[in-house]
This record gives sequence, C-alpha cells and structure tokens, in this order.
Amino acid sequence: MKTYKIAVIAGDGVGPEVIAEAVKVLKAAAAKDGRFEFTFTDYPWGCEYYLKTGEMMPEKGLEILKGYDAILLGAVGYPGVPDHISLRGLLLEIRHGFDQYVNLRPVKLLQGAPCPLKDVKREDIDMTFVRENSEGEYSGSGAWLYKDSPQEVVIQNGVFSRKGCERVIRYAYDLARKEKKTLTSISKANALNYSMVFWDQIFAEVGRDYPDVETHSYLVDAASMFMVKDPGRFQIVVTSNLFGDILTDLGAAISGGMGLAAGANLNPEKKFPSMFEPIHGSAPDIAGKGIANPLASIWTAAQMLDFFGYEDWGRKIVYSIERMLVEKKALTPDLGGTASTSECGDEMVRILQED
Ligand code: NAD
Ligand code: IPM
Ligand code: MN
Repeated sequence: MKTYKIAVIAGDGVGPEVIAEAVKVLKAAAAKDGRFEFTFTDYPWGCEYYLKTGEMMPEKGLEILKGYDAILLGAVGYPGVPDHISLRGLLLEIRHGFDQYVNLRPVKLLQGAPCPLKDVKREDIDMTFVRENSEGEYSGSGAWLYKDSPQEVVIQNGVFSRKGCERVIRYAYDLARKEKKTLTSISKANALNYSMVFWDQIFAEVGRDYPDVETHSYLVDAASMFMVKDPGRFQIVVTSNLFGDILTDLGAAISGGMGLAAGANLNPEKKFPSMFEPIHGSAPDIAGKGIANPLASIWTAAQMLDFFGYEDWGRKIVYSIERMLVEKKALTPDLGGTASTSECGDEMVRILQED
C-alpha cells in the first residue's frame, strides 16, 4: 500500500470549512480503493498566525513542507492583515519557492451547474487553463521610490524569462497533444511590446515541435469577450500569470461560480511538492456560517489524485460532483440549495461509497 503524506494548510476564512470536506473525500477514496492511503498533518498558518507571531508561516516553513508528497491549501487572506503581506508571505512564497510553475485550472460546465450565458450547452464550456505561475506580472519585482513624498514613484516589473515561458508553454502543448485538443495562447503583444511579443515568439517557436496541435492566439481583451460570447472556441489555454488569474475567475463565473472552481499548482518534475487549492479566496462575507461550497476543494482533491496517477479516481470524483449537481439534494446556497458545507461533503462521501 502506498502512503501519501499530505500537509494541510487550511488557512483563513472559509478555508478550514471547505478543506475539511476535501479531506473527508480523500479518506473515503483511499478506504474504498485500498491501493493507497493518506496521512494528513495540519499547519495552522495564515492571518491569525500572523497576528500572533508576525509571520504568515515560520521561517523554516518551506523546509517543513518539503518532506510532503503534496500540500492541500484552503485560502489565504483576511481583513485585518494587508493582502500583499498575507499572500506574499504564504501562498506566493510556496508557489515560487517550490517552483510550482503550472497553475492548472479546469473551466468546465458540469451537467446541472448553473450558467449565466444564454443557449450554452455543457460541451460548449470545456476548457483547461494552463496559467504561468512562477513569474510574469506576479514576480514581485519592483521598487517604491521616494515613498510618501510628492515625487513618489512605483515600478512593478513583469518578468518573463525564456526558461519560464518555454516550460509552461511546452507543458500546455504536451497537454493539448495528449488530450487531442486545440491550444490557444492568450497575450497582449500590441500594447506590451516586450513581454508579450516575447511570449508570442516563444509560443510559435515551441509550436514547431508540435505540428499535430492546432493553435490559436488571441489578445486578452478579445479573449475575455469571446469567453462570454463564444466559449466553445477554447479548449486548452495557456497564458501569463495575471491574465490567467483574471480569466479563470471569469471562467468560474460562466461554469457554476467560485464554489465550483478548482486549481492545482504543479511542479511537474516533482522536485518539490505540488499544492492543491480551490481558486476562490477566504470569502469573508460568508466565513464562519457553514455555508461555503466545498465542491471546488473536492474537485481540487480530485486533481491531486490525478497527479498521483489515480486518474480513475479523479474522473470518479468529478462525475460524482456532477451527480450532486443534477440530483440537487445537498447543494449549498450559492448553487440554490439549503445544505451546509458538511452536509454537501457527506453526500459526496455517500455517493462515492455507494458506486
Ligand atoms: P473570494 O474568492 O474569497 O470571494 C469572492 C466571492 O465568491 C464572494 O462573494 C464569496 O462569498 C464567493 N465565494 C468564494 N468561495 C466560495 C465558496 N466556496 N462557496 C460559496 N461562495 C464562495 O474573493 P475576494 O473576496 O476577492 O477575496 C477574499 C480574500 O481572499 C482576500 O484576502 C484575497 O486576497 C484572498 N484570496 C485568496 C486566494 C487564495 O488563497 N488562493 C484566492 C483569491 C483571493
Ligand atoms: C488566485 C489568487 C492569487 C493569485 C492571489 C490571492 C495572490 O487570486 O490564486 O487566483 O492571484 O494568484
Ligand atoms: Mn485569483
């Protein structure tokens, strides 16, 4: 039997509420399968920890996490601690420190999920975003000069390295080839005359190794319009850190909402642990009420099982989420139901045990 060591950083706001349900589902999958098991170790890092200690995680945080097979993360950030401190000190620190350069975010309209777009069928929204996750606009490079004086200047650099662009673009081409899908690059070379011209050039260069993959390129402004007007154009999508961040919230909006939006921060070489987290934040407006939707976290757990090589379980969990959406017996209020977070997780476990 294979044992996977999972570090759990439930984090802030609804993070602990939704992560508890993902852990339930992972335990149920392991119990049913018998080939693998998990050990879960909780780390109480986040904004409360910051208010007590002055740091979001201990100085040795990455060293501690390095020994795990994966990290399961809820959400980071809460009123009372400035976002740029909480996120830089924990979430981005882990993504960067562990070279999790691929942020894999499915944007798929499951059967039964609500969609605000008119005349859209399930198969019209079936995308996978490959978001660059280690540099770009979120590299944290910049300066604040003459602070608090009339001549103050801020500079926020976009950092696009050849290695950084090539590897994420190659990952996306490989995925498109494997899944026999089209690949769309989203950039903005008309205005960003260094970074995005370079990105487009590398997209074309890497593409020479993949003559079998059909490609498309869009400017990000047009792409956001087409995601709403004609989402069927997109299958595998590769884009920069900032654009991927924004477009995947848009993707969530057209495919059931933030409560159904999953994501995985991958270090594909497995040199460091990968981190699995829903794409939503700590949702302070509903935190503590027991009504957050855990399905995004549960889908994230399915991505973890995929990454460990149990793709049968990944599919099974997503199929069970779909069944929950169709049966509507235990959905949370964001999906029109009256169930609590834990009732929704319990129903998922029941379905998995029954199948
Ligand atoms: P958010 O994603 O937390 O919330 C946006 C909206 O979606 C809210 O109305 C919220 O109630 C709803 N929502 C989110 N998750 C939900 C769920 N599981 N079920 C039902 N409804 C859900 O975004 P925000 O309000 O902009 O950010 C709140 C905090 O979270 C900020 O500190 C932000 O920096 C942080 N944040 C963290 C992450 C992360 O940890 N990965 C991601 C995004 C934002
Ligand atoms: C996300 C979040 C993070 C990001 C923030 C909280 C730093 O919005 O995972 O989408 O932008 O990467
Ligand atoms: Mn985001």
